[in-house]
Amino acid sequence: MNEQTLLISDVDYTLLGDDDSLAEFATWYGRNRSHVQLVLSSGRFPDSIIESVETTGLPEPHVVIGGVGTEIRHYPSRSVVPGWPVCRPEHWDGHRVRSILAGFERLELQPEEFQSDFKISYFLRDAGQEEVERIRTTLLQQSIHAELVYSSQRDLDVLPHGCNKGSSAEYVARYLGFEPGDVIVCGDSANDIAMFDRGFAGIVVGNAHPDLKALDTALVYQSSHQYAKGVLDGIEYWMARRAARGN
Ligand code: GLC
Ligand code: MG
Repeated sequence: MNEQTLLISDVDYTLLGDDDSLAEFATWYGRNRSHVQLVLSSGRFPDSIIESVETTGLPEPHVVIGGVGTEIRHYPSRSVVPGWPVCRPEHWDGHRVRSILAGFERLELQPEEFQSDFKISYFLRDAGQEEVERIRTTLLQQSIHAELVYSSQRDLDVLPHGCNKGSSAEYVARYLGFEPGDVIVCGDSANDIAMFDRGFAGIVVGNAHPDLKALDTALVYQSSHQYAKGVLDGIEYWMARRAARGN
């Protein structure tokens, strides 16, 4: 296989979660590094992802996408990948987001270490679509165009409109010179959903949340294997399809 592949994977509960599976994945990646580039994408910020690379068996990536798609860094230099996030300043002001949303009693701000100018994150337990929509509408009435990402029935990330794990994955793929057909994305929870409608080959690991398990398109492979083993199983599936296509 000479074709280059870009593998963009979520970290927690996708690659991380089972040490034996991760070791198997790391061995596979070590053998395939010459034609597979790895990007790690997480709700956590880049420094925290890099700490996991240093302290677990996670293989070293080329690029790290952190903060639910709001920050993109090269690895290992940690230098910023330029031009991201793309957002109109008149449509985004993190301080205003916080002060407007202070009026929502059920929203509990996550600790400061999880906040940045472009990622305002709350705990919000068991919200329905309507409650999330009310928050979006309130922000819009104040001219704030936000992307609301609600995961695990617990985390609400408020990001600049158009900024999420999907758009950032698309940006990185283009930046590294990959066509969507040569990109594989993997995930387990709702903040990963945005990666699955960009024309990339998708892998949902077997331990994924029901929201992800409900994805049912020709570009989503549902693995019956858990964590990194699910990723490997999905890679095998997509590589076989690519070989059958003849490229
Ligand atoms: C990670 C982040 C948290 C975010 C969550 C969902 O856990 O630390 O801030 O809300 O991912 O995206
Ligand atoms: Mg995850």
